[in-house]
Order: sequence, then C-alpha cells, then structure tokens
Amino acid sequence: MYDEILPFLRCPACASTLDLHAARRDASGEILAGVLRCGCGAHYPLRDGIADFLGPPRPLTIAQRTNELAVTAWAYERIWRPFALTLLSGESLPYRRELPLIASWAGAERGGLFVDVACSNGLYARALTRAMRGAPGHVLAVDHALPMLREARRRALVAGLRISYVRAEARVLPVAAGVAAGVTIGGSLNEIGDLARCLQAVRRVLATNGRFVAMTLLAATGAAGQVVQRALASGGIVFWSRDELLAHFRAAGLHPQRDECHGIVLFSLCVPSREQ
Ligand SMILES: C[S@@+](CC[C@H](N)C(=O)[O-])C[C@H]1O[C@@H](n2cnc3c(N)ncnc32)[C@H](O)[C@@H]1O
Ligand SMILES: [Zn+2]
Repeated sequence: MYDEILPFLRCPACASTLDLHAARRDASGEILAGVLRCGCGAHYPLRDGIADFLGPPRPLTIAQRTNELAVTAWAYERIWRPFALTLLSGESLPYRRELPLIASWAGAERGGLFVDVACSNGLYARALTRAMRGAPGHVLAVDHALPMLREARRRALVAGLRISYVRAEARVLPVAAGVAAGVTIGGSLNEIGDLARCLQAVRRVLATNGRFVAMTLLAATGAAGQVVQRALASGGIVFWSRDELLAHFRAAGLHPQRDECHGIVLFSLCVPSREQ
C-alpha cells in the first residue's frame, strides 16, 4: 500500500478517517507494515504491504472458498485468465482487446482514484495504472482473498507499478464516498454474494463524473451452457440476462450508458444516476 491512498481510506465500521501508526516503508515508499486506527476504536493491520479490513470470518460460498486457496491464486492468471474470455465468448477475446476496452471505458487516461473491486491477481488494476500514463492518480485493488492479493501485489511489483492492495468485502468498501473516478469489476459480480449491496457500495464511492465498468458473465441461452451454469449456481455463482443485470445497475443508481456482448461476456459502462 502507498501513501497516495491514505486520504481516501475510511473505517468500514463508522466511515471515519484513519490514522496510520507504526508504519514501516521500503525504499520505494511502499508501506509494508503498520496499523490503521480509527477514532471509533477499530484498528486494521497492514502486513506484507496489504491492509486488512476484513472483519470476523463470515459464511462463504464454494466459489468464494475456492478463491481463498493458494493454488487458485497461483493458477488464476498463469493458467485460466489469459484464455478465459475467448473460451467463454466463443470468439477471439485476448487481453489486447479486453484491457484497452476496460481502461478506455473507465477513462483511466483522466487520472484520479480507480478502485478495482474483487481484483483477484490484479489484471484490471495493472491495466488501469498503465493506461494513466503519468496522469496523477492511483489504483486501489480490493479482494477478500489474501492469497489472491499477495499474488496481485507480487505481479505489480514485478511490473514496477505502484498499486495499493487491501483485503475487504466488496459490499463494504473502505473508501470515502464520492471520490472514485472509476470502479471496475471484472467477472466478479457473478460470485460476489450480494449484488445489490455491492452495487450500492460502488455507487457510494463513485464521484459525480465517475464511471463504473464491469465485465460480467450472462445466463447462457444454449442447453449445454444452461446445464453447466445450473451446476455452478450450486457453488454460489449467479448468472443474469443482460436486461436483468442492467435493471440491477439502475436500481442501485448506476445508469447504463453503453454495453457490448460477446457470447455470454458482457462489458458494461454505467455512470451515477443524477437523481441519487
Ligand atoms: C472471477 S475472479 C475476479 C477476476 C478478476 N477481476 C479478473 O478480471 O481477472 C473473482 C474474485 O472475486 C473475489 N470475491 C468474491 N466475492 C467477493 C466479495 N464478496 N468481496 C471481495 N472479493 C470477492 C474472489 O476472491 C476472486 O478473487
Ligand atoms: Zn471507525
């Protein structure tokens, strides 16, 4: 985690600002260890460069538990992710098509604070940071699985990118209201557990000119796909039709501006609704 993110962090319990104590930094300025303290009495440890805002253990779905495994974190970007969208969409959809779309829809070139929610190995966080091309800004990447965050931080360090990683629930983002130029969620709404609360959290942190970009898997229309998705549903993975998903966005105060479907892969861009 880096100093740039400190002004934007808030206590998940009471939304107050946090003070960093007993900080230990390396030569690059990364905060390796310390404690974030709130006036309400809550405190959040920062170890190995990652701040931990997760409260006591809570029930997880099978999909979420799988993502807590070190082997999943190791394999995610090495084995599955480079080919995932091509396999799922049925067309050639490599990173070189996906990542520029995400960064340009999010408007990363404007700079500012970007939050990559349920970041896994940090693919979108790195793409957003690179797309800022020196514009003043910073990316905060959030996941509730520590092994995923450790691998994401390792990848950012290898790439020489300054990205702050925190362990937190997507439903309770430890971020101030109205500060984010953009929020991205790649493939995670399907397993996040509580879509409505997650979208409310996204809406809360977005600035008035903020953008929300999601890549989400839609309900299959073919028989074989439906069988697979029914099996995945028992593990906690949920699929919606495009119209259902956009209705969820609207209900959370996120106005859909543009979307693009590739097989079951939906890219969507929302902005905060004016009436909220
Ligand atoms: C499909 S992966 C994300 C992929 C990543 N965004 C990408 O594009 O490569 C799902 C991630 O969501 C995380 N996750 C699931 N439910 C979560 C929750 N309620 N809060 C925070 N993270 C969550 C998992 O730990 C996992 O890393
Ligand atoms: Zn507090």
